[in-house]
Amino acid sequence: MPIELKKTKDGSYTLFIPALNEHYHSYNGALAEAMHIFINAGFNFLPKQKINILELGFGTGLNAILTFTEAKKNNTTVFYCAVEAYPLDYQLIKQLKYESLEGVNPTVLKKIHTESWEKEIKISKHFTLQKLKTDIQKFEHNKKFDLVYFDAFAPEVQPVLWSEKVFINIHKRLKKKWNFAYLLFQRHSKKSFACRRIFCKTFGWSPRETPYFKGDSSVKISPRI
Ligand SMILES: C[S@@+](CC[C@H](N)C(=O)[O-])C[C@H]1O[C@@H](n2cnc3c(N)ncnc32)[C@H](O)[C@@H]1O
Repeated sequence: MPIELKKTKDGSYTLFIPALNEHYHSYNGALAEAMHIFINAGFNFLPKQKINILELGFGTGLNAILTFTEAKKNNTTVFYCAVEAYPLDYQLIKQLKYESLEGVNPTVLKKIHTESWEKEIKISKHFTLQKLKTDIQKFEHNKKFDLVYFDAFAPEVQPVLWSEKVFINIHKRLKKKWNFAYLLFQRHSKKSFACRRIFCKTFGWSPRETPYFKGDSSVKISPRI
């Protein structure tokens, strides 16, 4: 499927798939969105010593490199498992110029993208990466996770990934004590609110709105306390 490079409103780049009319990140700011949702509302919300993160939809690796950078700052040990069914070509990823983002180490960024799939790779003393080339619907793992970056395409584009079956599988992979999932929904989307209801109803969780990110809305879902 053809993919186009797009500059978003904060100056950072993303990818656009014309056939799906879908961006990999918000056109209001790829970097700003990733920081707002996954890093600030997700990673920075958890205790800092040691965490296991599951990313569903590795894509451009933006969340992975930002998590690496933040973890280094905080001296956090991270096991980062990223699931992706359609890995992008490295030549295309290079055009996103994520090595020029503040704090990003170009050597680490390259490693994240070029290291082999399936194996656990020690990117640094504190950061272990495992990229799994598989479908989110078939994903299995023997580890439990503290945090999920649920970064699939929108439910309107891929409704099958926003189903009860997928959510139950995610839920099974969460640790009991610190389980948080962050789901990104687009504002005004009836479908996305229906998905949120399914998730909350299935597990008795509560949606907690994080502040809107410009045109989009992100919803943090966590267990009812
Ligand atoms: C919104 S984009 C991901 C953004 C990504 N986190 C990033 O920072 O670039 C959604 C990703 O999910 C992947 N994807 C779509 N369907 C999938 C499936 N069934 N299983 C695994 N990955 C899938 C796409 O290839 C794409 O990389």
